[in-house]
Amino acid sequence: MSIGGYIIHTVGTRYQGWGNTQALVDGVCQTGSTGVIVSDGTIGDFYFHGFFPIYIRVDVLFLVAIIEKFVNRILPCRMGEKKVVHYSLQHQEQGETMQFHMPAKLIFGSGEIQHLSQIISENFKGANPVIITDKGIADAGLLARITDLLPHARVFDTIEANPKSDTINSIAATLRQDKPDLIIGLGGGSPLDAGKALALLVTNVGDIEAYEGREKYVQDPLPFLAIPTTCGTGSEVTWVSVITDVNRKFKMSIKGPKLYPAVSIVDPDLIKSLPRSIIASTGLDALTHAVEAYLSKPATLITDTQAVKAVQLILGSIEGAFEDIQNNDSDRDNLMMGSTIAGFAFGNSDVTAVHCISESIGAIYDVPHGVANSIFLPHVLAYNLPACEKKMADLARQSGIDMDADFNTSEQAQAFIQYIKDLSKRLGIPSFSDLNISRDQFKTIAQACFANNSNGSNPRDLDVNDYRKILENALK
Ligand SMILES: NC(=O)c1ccc[n+]([C@@H]2O[C@H](COP(=O)([O-])OP(=O)(O)OC[C@H]3O[C@@H](n4cnc5c(N)ncnc54)[C@H](O)[C@@H]3O)[C@@H](O)[C@H]2O)c1
Ligand SMILES: [Fe+2]
Repeated sequence: MSIGGYIIHTVGTRYQGWGNTQALVDGVCQTGSTGVIVSDGTIGDFYFHGFFPIYIRVDVLFLVAIIEKFVNRILPCRMGEKKVVHYSLQHQEQGETMQFHMPAKLIFGSGEIQHLSQIISENFKGANPVIITDKGIADAGLLARITDLLPHARVFDTIEANPKSDTINSIAATLRQDKPDLIIGLGGGSPLDAGKALALLVTNVGDIEAYEGREKYVQDPLPFLAIPTTCGTGSEVTWVSVITDVNRKFKMSIKGPKLYPAVSIVDPDLIKSLPRSIIASTGLDALTHAVEAYLSKPATLITDTQAVKAVQLILGSIEGAFEDIQNNDSDRDNLMMGSTIAGFAFGNSDVTAVHCISESIGAIYDVPHGVANSIFLPHVLAYNLPACEKKMADLARQSGIDMDADFNTSEQAQAFIQYIKDLSKRLGIPSFSDLNISRDQFKTIAQACFANNSNGSNPRDLDVNDYRKILENALK
């Protein structure tokens, strides 16, 4: 893969100041270096030799994204050249620390799934795997492709959309008897999140409801291998599992660093069987992740660079993939890559009020997650405009949407919102009124939104009444 050669060597730990990253790049620029690249604990130690194993491809894209951000000030490098710049963190500004996590290994590429048994034997020696999936994956023929490769794996294919706590608890009871040593999640976000929750429950006591929140597990969960088959949730690279508590009708977030997949195989071939409606809803879910990550309060330079790249990839490919996912190889690859990069971005910053609404509605009405996000993204952006007009205008310019050249910042931001509204229509996303949600429920939904963990990450503060107004506006 020809990616140019850039080496940045940072000395130190995962904790790095925002200002320092800027200073780091500035330092690199001053050296007049023709090669800049990364070597630090957060993204693994590696050097540019003109060839990367495929499993660090996302790291490479991430680097390219960083470099692109500063492209005016960094010269491209010649293949084979290597310049290592040491940057000390002693200049770290007070209070400007951040933490960035990445899962252990990501394998990306069309056809990679064929190497599944080899990947398991290389990464999980002596594994006795269990596959967690759903009926749609079996009907699409994807489960058979996996069981052909792993004939001895036990299969649970009863995961429903917006996976429910009672389903998880009942499968966990069986798995505790079976004692598997590897959980494989095969499917969209629902089976992946179910797989993470089960990996946790097999080694810990009690029901999943007890693990809502951060790092509530006592024992390490089982290793988890994620195989995504939708182009949406990014769950293959996040540390969160979203499970619906059926008693409270509330989507719980169960999270912590031990819930990262140990390995994720992201094979764009697996989304060839997606019906158009799911390409649209999951692709727009991924777009929502990228946009929310960019606008969220905890956003950092690293997540910003990833989020912008993800928005570019997704907007550039979603309509082509929607038209012909079977034959449009590059759009299929780019959409899948965009979805995964968006997962890194929001997984290390956060989502905002759009997800607060979609999770609240999804828990009560079982609305597909991506559909709810697509409906509310433009409405939440409109609410957020006063707080982040400039960043929205950035997205409009960087994603290359059609705008008058003389648009000011405010007009550019508005154009971005309008573009997303129009795109959702072109992709056949239903309107809020099509979901038949009773107005009587708005207060309950608004309260659940306010109670959502991500409410505090929205760039503009919202109370229960603000959520009610957004729901009302979406009906118009
Ligand atoms: N953990 C996270 O980081 C995270 C992030 C966002 C959303 N989520 C959660 O993910 C869930 C939504 O996941 P989703 O949108 O991917 O949908 P999903 O997993 O619920 O799947 C939707 C439907 O698509 C079908 N399907 C999936 N892949 C297919 C394929 N390749 N061919 C044919 N049919 C296929 C499934 O069988 C199912 O019927 C929600 O519960 C949401 O809360 C999790
Ligand atoms: Fe989502």
